[in-house]
Amino acid sequence: MLIDVYIAARASAVRKALPGLVTGLRARPRLAQAMKYSLSAGGKRLRPALMCASYEVFGGRPGEILPAACAIEMVHTYSLIHDDLPVMDDASLRRGRPASHKVYGEAAALLAGDALLTDAFTVLLSSKYPPRVKPARLLRAAAILARRAGSGGMVSGQAADLEAEGFLDRAPAGRKAGLSLLAYIHRHKTADLISAAVEMGAALAGAPEKELRALSAFGRDLGLCFQAADDILDVAGDRKKLGKNASDARNRKLTYAALLGVEEARRRAEALRRSALRNLAGVKGRAGAKALLAEMAGFVLRREN
Ligand code: IPE
Ligand code: IPE
Ligand code: MG
Ligand code: MG
Ligand code: MG
Repeated sequence: MLIDVYIAARASAVRKALPGLVTGLRARPRLAQAMKYSLSAGGKRLRPALMCASYEVFGGRPGEILPAACAIEMVHTYSLIHDDLPVMDDASLRRGRPASHKVYGEAAALLAGDALLTDAFTVLLSSKYPPRVKPARLLRAAAILARRAGSGGMVSGQAADLEAEGFLDRAPAGRKAGLSLLAYIHRHKTADLISAAVEMGAALAGAPEKELRALSAFGRDLGLCFQAADDILDVAGDRKKLGKNASDARNRKLTYAALLGVEEARRRAEALRRSALRNLAGVKGRAGAKALLAEMAGFVLRREN
């Protein structure tokens, strides 16, 4: 499929660029090693691909924003390192390898996450870009990333995810309350960074505010669809292909699968994909690049890891 080739090309560029970027940050050797360990462990690099495709919608070429694509992958990777810690999801396998804290210990994993988050902004703001990426556009992209990743965004999603552990044991009949809490969790812990990716691509290309908002709605629904699929994979996925172990049932997580069953979760994920496409249809930009984003929504649902 065309989209798999596109994602693989962006993934390869990001994978090659990341170690050099980390080396340039002058971290202590063991810290740098832990950062590189998680960054090089693979992963789909979906957020960089989304940012690049969105940048292309407004006339850019993906290579021009490679540092920004690396920066969002650094924020994402930090979130995974912390997510796996024993005080959070207590997961021992990530991207097919032992989780960071299993290799480096909890304190070093915590710090590798801290460093990746902060350094993402150094990489984003201190790298060279072509003239098209004017300073004001870069600033707009940095503000988007900070807000979406921060306490009003991904971090609150993670906080709500932890607070909701055991929800179904405490309120077995609380389907309605569960659905609205789950919408909040998915929106923030996952959809915020995914919409940040498409919003940043649009901002870096200088898209008008109206188009950026329409793309943001696409990113939100894509992110919700992505997390619904993630929850289904946790129950029904092939562990080997996933590269991570099931942990939602053990942690008594509130998920679509736990609340509604896997079949209904699949129906909802498909409805979210269609909703994402409706939002995308309203965006004015290059048709070929929009088609890439549309295909990305299909990829999110049929993925096996
Ligand atoms: C996993 O994200 C964490 C969630 C937000 C569900 P990905 O499935 O994008 O993880 P990698 O980067 O491909 O490993
Ligand atoms: C993680 O959600 C979301 C973030 C890291 C922000 P999950 O806990 O479901 O992700 P996995 O399944 O461990 O990858
Ligand atoms: Mg989690
Ligand atoms: Mg987890
Ligand atoms: Mg999960």
